[in-house]
Amino acid sequence: MPLKSDAHQWGSLAKTFHWLVVLLIIVQGVLGLYMVELPKRPSSFWYYNLHKSIGMTVLTLAVLRLAWRAFDRRPEEPASTPHWQTLGARAGHALLYALLFAVPLSGWWFDSVTALRPLYFFGLFEIPHITAANPDLKDFARETHEWLFWLLVVVACGHAAMALVHQFVNRDGTLSRMLPGRARALASAPAVATSVEPAPTASENAHVENTPAASILAADPAARDPGA
Ligand code: HEM
Ligand code: HEM
Repeated sequence: MPLKSDAHQWGSLAKTFHWLVVLLIIVQGVLGLYMVELPKRPSSFWYYNLHKSIGMTVLTLAVLRLAWRAFDRRPEEPASTPHWQTLGARAGHALLYALLFAVPLSGWWFDSVTALRPLYFFGLFEIPHITAANPDLKDFARETHEWLFWLLVVVACGHAAMALVHQFVNRDGTLSRMLPGRARALASAPAVATSVEPAPTASENAHVENTPAASILAADPAARDPGA
């Protein structure tokens, strides 16, 4: 599987970043909601340290992911996608990226204004606080962290729902090209002519030859026969 994305599918590095971050966000959400219910005793601190360390990992992955995106390309939108949907998806993705920074940064900020304990990254080294201790901001910082998390949950659920609609209603392969493995030709692209259909005209041929599906078929003859 190629490392870089191409016109038809996401590369293995973009896929790894995407699904690793999804997994870590789910772990973080469950862990965060669980740990705040625990009695504030030294025996609970292990969960807090784990939560903060995984959170800093998500922040690091968000930086690396955006840096990689500057070198990588985005696959093209399926031909059937209306322009307004493309713009909506771009805005949604931009918001998700912003929240991937804002949620861990707000946690780091909350940890800094409370300044109860040093922040050790998986017990390996200390991460400095980003601001000075400020008890007046403690409640505000905690609520900011919590509300940004719930905003991320809402936006991510809408995003996942749209991915499923594209995949199973529009059948345009949007989800397949983000899943591990090689994506097939886009289902929404014009099909290759069969014997019962009228022969395409020269102008129809020119259109078909310019579609993403046609270029996959041209580059990879095995793609003509799904059983090959
Ligand atoms: C993607 C990253 C993160 C997610 C999804 C996340 C999510 C959460 C959630 C759901 C809670 C429970 C909120 C509540 O119900 O009060 C929480 C609490 C907390 N988070 Fe995070 N968090 C992340 C990153 C971080 C980071 C990087 C830090 C610190 C460096 C941090 C520090 C805390 C602390 C100290 C609490 C406890 C707040 C309290 O005592 O009420 N979090 N987080
Ligand atoms: C915490 C949860 C999630 C976050 C933060 C997230 C974030 C993102 C971001 C930022 C992108 C844009 C990538 C780019 O343009 O560089 C993206 C793409 C994508 N995500 Fe997610 N995602 C999440 C969950 C999911 C889930 C659960 C699904 C599937 C059900 C999903 C399916 C997809 C697909 C198919 C794409 C590619 C869209 C396209 O090719 O236009 N995501 N995601």
